[in-house]
Amino acid sequence: MGVGRELRPQFPIFASFPEPLHYLDNAATGQICAAAAEALWEFETAARANVKRGVYRLADQASAAFEAARSTMASYIGAPAPDEVVFTSGATSALNIAAHGLAERLSPGDEILVSVLEHHSNIVPWQLAAKARQAVVKAIPVTDDGRLDLDRLGGVLTDRTRVVSLTHVSNVTGAVTDLARLRAAADDVGAILVVDGAQRAPHGPIDVKAIGADLYAFSAHKMFGATGAGVLWGRSAILDAFPPLLGGGEMIREVSFAGTTFAAPPHRFEAGTPPIGPVLAMAAAAEWLMAQDWSALAAHEARLTGRLLDGLGSLPGVRILGPTGLQQRLGVVAFEVDGVHAHDVCQLVDQLAGVALRGGHHCCQPLMERFDTIATARASLAPYNDDDDIDALIDGLERTIEMLQ
Ligand code: ALA
Repeated sequence: MGVGRELRPQFPIFASFPEPLHYLDNAATGQICAAAAEALWEFETAARANVKRGVYRLADQASAAFEAARSTMASYIGAPAPDEVVFTSGATSALNIAAHGLAERLSPGDEILVSVLEHHSNIVPWQLAAKARQAVVKAIPVTDDGRLDLDRLGGVLTDRTRVVSLTHVSNVTGAVTDLARLRAAADDVGAILVVDGAQRAPHGPIDVKAIGADLYAFSAHKMFGATGAGVLWGRSAILDAFPPLLGGGEMIREVSFAGTTFAAPPHRFEAGTPPIGPVLAMAAAAEWLMAQDWSALAAHEARLTGRLLDGLGSLPGVRILGPTGLQQRLGVVAFEVDGVHAHDVCQLVDQLAGVALRGGHHCCQPLMERFDTIATARASLAPYNDDDDIDALIDGLERTIEMLQ
């Protein structure tokens, strides 16, 4: 336990990287924790076998570890049953399984409601589903401070809305979605609520039941696991009705040329050899996350976010895209520097101050259009960040602005 730099010894990158690293690109990927890296190494070097296939001891052990990881992930998100946890390659594939599955329910003219805040991974799969079923994708508008504009919900939620799919936390503005209100709105029209939890998953245990989600998607690599794994959680009744997205491997019950039948969820959606090592690492990362003191970490992150917002606000020509207060937001802060392209900002703060930021459209082009821009810089926080990272960023930005403006 601990907060900020006290946690860095538990993240190998900080000892391995040759220079001081002010890593503020956690919304793109978090650094792997030692516990997850060890679980990955242990599986690949001392316990590797395919799962759900072999009958020898090594294979049995691998299958048991894989199913134990399912139980761990169910605990992390408060899922009622491990079988509601589908292992995927990440949040994007999870959302694609959800969209493909829910497309079955759509008739021509039905509506899918997303928002202007969404990552492309929570827009494009719905556009594909809509095209296949002659349905329509609509979007909740966004306020000037980067939140869902729920005052305008009535203009886009209709009695044809069958699915509402929204991010839990914006990967650009850091705004936290008022899911209780959206759950109630979805219930008013009998819609399914899908939640993209990619940016929420690294910030402590989740309770999908309390949120009221029907389906919830996230990635391991953002929550301090390895790349290549993720989860789609869904209520059993919903997953049971989904057709598979991919075929092959152990997702079947019986295959014949007369017709193939499919395994029950979750295996129906786990075609081919799954990302076994990354799944075990994800479970180790979830164990690590569950062992942390989240009231201390939330306070630490809120304090750093406040310092970051104040620091950015004090710089000439810097515009923050998103809430400038701490209410209902996490430590993801996008900003523009007047007259300087985001890529130049990111390269210079790295060269001048060793700060890793993301610059670009953040896979959110509709949101960029809403803010009348094509790219922003973005700083995003994790539990191991501390005041030194914020100071380095603000110092690097001051020098960047002096040089370029
Ligand atoms: N979705 C990740 C980001 O926002 C990759 O950076």
